[in-house]
Amino acid sequence: MAAGLRYSETGEGEAVLCLGHDGQALAATHRVIAVDITSGGPVNGLRHLIEDLGITAANIVARGAGAGLALAFAAAHPQNVLRLALVAPARLTEDTILCPVLILGEAEVPASMPRARVEGASDIDAQLASFLTRRLSGFDNRELRSAFGSFMTGVTIVTTTGVDGGPRGFTANSFTSVSLEPPLLMICIGKQAASMETFRRARGFAVNILSEAQKDTSVLFASKRHDKFEAASWRPGPFGNPLIEGSAAWFDCARYQVIDAGDHIILMGHIEAFSYSDANPLGYARGHYITLGLEQAAVNAASSASRTVVGAILENDNRLVLLPDPSRPSGLALPEVGRLGPSGSASQLHDLLQREGLDATLGFLFAVFENPGTREQCIYYRGEALLHARGRTVLADFEDIPWDRLPDEATRSMLRRYAAERKIGRFKVYSGDHRQGTVKAVD
Ligand SMILES: Cc1cc2nc3c(=O)[nH]c(=O)nc-3n(C[C@H](O)[C@H](O)[C@H](O)COP(=O)(O)O)c2cc1C
Repeated sequence: MAAGLRYSETGEGEAVLCLGHDGQALAATHRVIAVDITSGGPVNGLRHLIEDLGITAANIVARGAGAGLALAFAAAHPQNVLRLALVAPARLTEDTILCPVLILGEAEVPASMPRARVEGASDIDAQLASFLTRRLSGFDNRELRSAFGSFMTGVTIVTTTGVDGGPRGFTANSFTSVSLEPPLLMICIGKQAASMETFRRARGFAVNILSEAQKDTSVLFASKRHDKFEAASWRPGPFGNPLIEGSAAWFDCARYQVIDAGDHIILMGHIEAFSYSDANPLGYARGHYITLGLEQAAVNAASSASRTVVGAILENDNRLVLLPDPSRPSGLALPEVGRLGPSGSASQLHDLLQREGLDATLGFLFAVFENPGTREQCIYYRGEALLHARGRTVLADFEDIPWDRLPDEATRSMLRRYAAERKIGRFKVYSGDHRQGTVKAVD
């Protein structure tokens, strides 16, 4: 019994509230909550029930008279209803219902339910099972995520203090400035995040906008590690939330509003204090970090008096693309221009790739450094390549790179880093010299 409504519960998985319908057959795949709708106050009772059970959004299956309650609930609390199935509904209302609706029985679909469909009730259990396991969006989520990832953002760490007084935080790029008067901002946190509940209940939170020297901090706070704050430098902000040292800016906020939004919640904060520095902010797009300093370092390198080598770390079918090095017998090199003779440029690199039968898509910059042996300025992009013709191309497994056939330690060192980073699926762009690989300060 919760909130005045009697119920019984069985099974595990996504929640299904059964109103006037025996949902036992669904318990194999779902957490079925059979509610005795004669036992308490209707719409509010249901709302309290799912809150008490710790459910943010549930499916509803309603039969006969239960349909009226289900429709009223879905209209009043759309954020709490994933899908609505009505079995032989007594009557349909004109309420606006935007979630997918399945009506089993005789009915005409009202215009107020644009995602409703009517089916004859032939095998109700099978029809319900199929409806309740159908995807909500109809999209491939990986594709949708990739499309979202085309929007270039900064990177933040959002922090708060848990009920135990300990600091909590996670990496987020869903930050948006909202309003100047009053001063508001927002971020989204996924419901699967370990710290979601802490943030949902917190009296406030801080948003730390990372600088380009803080890629490692971003990776740390995107992890599930329990010692995130032991591994980072931080201090309490004026409003009490943890501030990460070295950030490009921070905003210490009081809780303003928490909005339920699908598989995330939106945290809106009222800014109580803020500060910013002139450090370059860290960028993020298509799953990769971007640093303005690296772009600037590439411009400086290309316009410097020294010779410039422009090259590419290309992958074909998960293997590294290498070419014979004409200056050394049995030597290999990355596709690159400018090593012999005058400085190379990006357009010369494209010409070389075409000549070698490589249809390459160059992505972001991977490294900019001065080769200490040759004093050359080296600029390397990373990307993917299709092979039109095998030609002179050598494809090397990353576990088996022919290190001794590569031209120098600078190339080896950069490729070792590349191989290590691709293994863990992330690319840290860096500039500096080939040993330290740290971000070069740009004046
Ligand atoms: C660049 C980047 C941006 C991210 N943005 C978000 C975000 O906006 N919201 C979110 O919930 N998770 C985001 N994540 C994932 C979280 O940081 C990650 O799930 C983290 O483990 C959550 O921490 P917790 O489970 O300890 O709470 C992002 C990760 C990265 C690397």
